[in-house]
Amino acid sequence: MNKVWQQPLPTIYRELSDAELRLRIESAKEHLGSRLAILGHHYQQDAVIDFADFTGDSFELSRRAADQKSVEYVVFCGVHFMAESADILTDESVHVILPDLGAGCSMADMANLDQTLEAWAQLEEACPDQLIVPITYMNSSAAIKAFVGEHGGAVCTSSNCRNVLEWALKGGATSSGLAASAASYPPKKVKILFFPDQHLGRNTAHAMGYPLEKMVVWDPREEMGGNDPRRLADADFVLWKGHCSVHALFRPEHVDEARAKYPGIKVMVHPECKFEVVQKADLAGSTAYIVKQVEAAPPGTQWAIGTEVHLIHRLAREHPEQKIIVLSDCQCLCTTMYRIDLPHLCWVLENLVEGKVVNEIKVDDQTRKWSLVALDRMLAIKGTGNPIGKNQPIGTTVD
Ligand code: 13P
Ligand code: SF4
Repeated sequence: MNKVWQQPLPTIYRELSDAELRLRIESAKEHLGSRLAILGHHYQQDAVIDFADFTGDSFELSRRAADQKSVEYVVFCGVHFMAESADILTDESVHVILPDLGAGCSMADMANLDQTLEAWAQLEEACPDQLIVPITYMNSSAAIKAFVGEHGGAVCTSSNCRNVLEWALKGGATSSGLAASAASYPPKKVKILFFPDQHLGRNTAHAMGYPLEKMVVWDPREEMGGNDPRRLADADFVLWKGHCSVHALFRPEHVDEARAKYPGIKVMVHPECKFEVVQKADLAGSTAYIVKQVEAAPPGTQWAIGTEVHLIHRLAREHPEQKIIVLSDCQCLCTTMYRIDLPHLCWVLENLVEGKVVNEIKVDDQTRKWSLVALDRMLAIKGTGNPIGKNQPIGTTVD
């Protein structure tokens, strides 16, 4: 896999005004025509979203990437793990470009392959009579996705997590493609090892009816993940100790404060938020789900939303007939998403016009093979809309 640092942007791109950058981006797009597709995640700045051919959550953008059969270039306005997945899902001939290589994801960096191999060996030793199915959230490196694919698991996103977990709890897939639980008799107890977001794992498993006592957290810096062997063996879910530092900023008291200040307000959060926050919220779902709920709401609806600030501000601007506020007054900004801006977009596009591919994201063949299996399994398991508890459809795919 290529780990290349971002080269300094030629100063000219910093000196251009937004209006000049826009004109130059438009002209580069026109020049490249149907050879180019620009994908933009919902957390991107408005200025960047304006140039996206497709916008969406991670699931939707993966689907869009997989659909790009005839283009030469996919410019991915999002973060590294998304561009990496796009490279895995597109044909060899397609160049996937991330406008700023510094656009990583701190959560994805919380699990690496060495730690994963170590955890796997310790878990297999501690639970020899159980079938361990590894599931990774999309927000992880291609190496982790490949590990998961090779060991009978799948990738999930916040839009289909529940359905992927239901599939995994039936045994996932063996390398021969058979349902593993059907392959052994009596069926083994299935244990899920969930990477790297403990909150998405916990929120979804709890919504599926699993009590918190059936979940343990795996701290990769500690022997046995910091767990007592008996509790570890008894657990149905082993949740990797990872989190999103942006969504961690939302706290339960923010929900109480919003409700006290605006009676009747609906609280909607991303399932990367902590358990206590999701429990208090009215609704939880992926970024596409959040967009869809606002689009479907009648005028006068009041929302306090717990997710990245650019998406919330865009929704507020697009829906002046509703009251839309950020759940807390913290700076809930994903600083890495924010690295993608007009100067970087203009720079990569103008290089393409000159026939130069800069900032290409390329996954090596070895990693590609099994990570593609894990991603294909994810794409095959769409969310089907399972209402949870207080009408909390975590895991609902929005078409
Ligand atoms: P979505 O799949 O809901 O777009 O989430 C991606 C993400 O990184 C949220 O922090
Ligand atoms: Fe990663 Fe959090 Fe940013 Fe999403 S919001 S890309 S999980 S750091």
